[in-house]
Amino acid sequence: MPLPLKALTPAPPDSILGLAEAFRSDARPAKVNLSVGVYVDESGTTPVLPSVIEAERRLVERAQSKVYRPIEGSPGYRRAVAELVFADVAGIVAGNRAAVAQTPGGTGALRVAADFLLQAGASRTLWLPQPTWPNHPQLFGLAGFGLRSYPYLRAGGRQIDEAALLGALRSADPGDLVLLQGSCHNPTGVDPSPLLWRAIADLVVERELLPIVDFAYQGFGHGLREDADWLAGLARPGLEFLVCSSFSKNFALYNERVGALAVVAADAGRAAAALSHVRVAIRANYSNPPSHGADVVEAILADSALRARWETELAGMRDRIRANRAAFVDALTAAGVPGDWEPLRRQRGMFALLGLGPAQVGRLRDEFGVYVVAGGRVNVAGLTAANLPCVVDALAAVIEA
Ligand SMILES: Cc1ncc(COP(=O)(O)O)c(C=O)c1O
Repeated sequence: MPLPLKALTPAPPDSILGLAEAFRSDARPAKVNLSVGVYVDESGTTPVLPSVIEAERRLVERAQSKVYRPIEGSPGYRRAVAELVFADVAGIVAGNRAAVAQTPGGTGALRVAADFLLQAGASRTLWLPQPTWPNHPQLFGLAGFGLRSYPYLRAGGRQIDEAALLGALRSADPGDLVLLQGSCHNPTGVDPSPLLWRAIADLVVERELLPIVDFAYQGFGHGLREDADWLAGLARPGLEFLVCSSFSKNFALYNERVGALAVVAADAGRAAAALSHVRVAIRANYSNPPSHGADVVEAILADSALRARWETELAGMRDRIRANRAAFVDALTAAGVPGDWEPLRRQRGMFALLGLGPAQVGRLRDEFGVYVVAGGRVNVAGLTAANLPCVVDALAAVIEA
């Protein structure tokens, strides 16, 4: 029996990583890549953080064995992650309400969450923001969920359409899952206010929904705790939810594939039971996690001096992103590029959605060598003093008054 026909018809390139491949094969020297969600510094590179190099040095010195790790990861890593994500909010950590499992990146956390929920008989309906990270519908759709979407932005793309968002969630059925991005929303950079988080949580309680919080950018927006402001809305006594963390960005450990799934349950007993099913989902998928990236994260978080160093490095990335936002808005305004740019200054994280059509995105790439994702999502970290004028000139050329 030959391979199924569908396997022989090439799949379309990934909507984001495919652009990186196209960028690499573009021979023009003045090309600019604002498409991939990776932090780059002023020299256009993504260096290994010095705190990570120090942690790795220590790990090499005490390396003993490459024996399998527990299915859910090491106890030290799991505890450190729980404290990083939840701090002491609502007694989640103290009450052992968070069952944490190490996963291969934030994507792995999302996939393990999907498998765990389907295995456990959750609703097969998942509500996603529109727009969202393109891998969300692909991942949850292939896992077996039926997808619905809730509107996210008002026309103009600079503010959340709170009434439409809440209205859509009000129509969800009890048990339905709702994916919420915790901070630094991808692709818009626009996050809910604390007040909106509370209103969402009210609806989650009223409609008996189960939230999955995708928390891929903790510390990339306003700060480690500031970016966890969604917790205050959701962390109510008895309210259960899942959190998918990624350490790709905040530790710059992209290719080590390190992240975590936390299942927050109403009490310690329910959390322990949930973890036993998460373990089954992992065992059936990739058996047990790789150790290196998690060991680095654990080593940094467990040592107060190393942790302080990492927090300073993280603040450096965050501050550069915020300075880039300001420089971008100033340059667009100074060049008279038509559009509502000022709100971009206050948005959170690496992404800004410029609101461009396919023809404009195509012209940016073909005529000017400026690569942005569909809709005009740009990674503001990719802007530098050297390329900003070319990017603004290109935008001025494709955006008409
Ligand atoms: C919203 C969102 N969730 C999850 C991820 C996955 O991150 P990771 O690379 O750790 O799998 C990303 C990465 O770009 C993302 O933007």
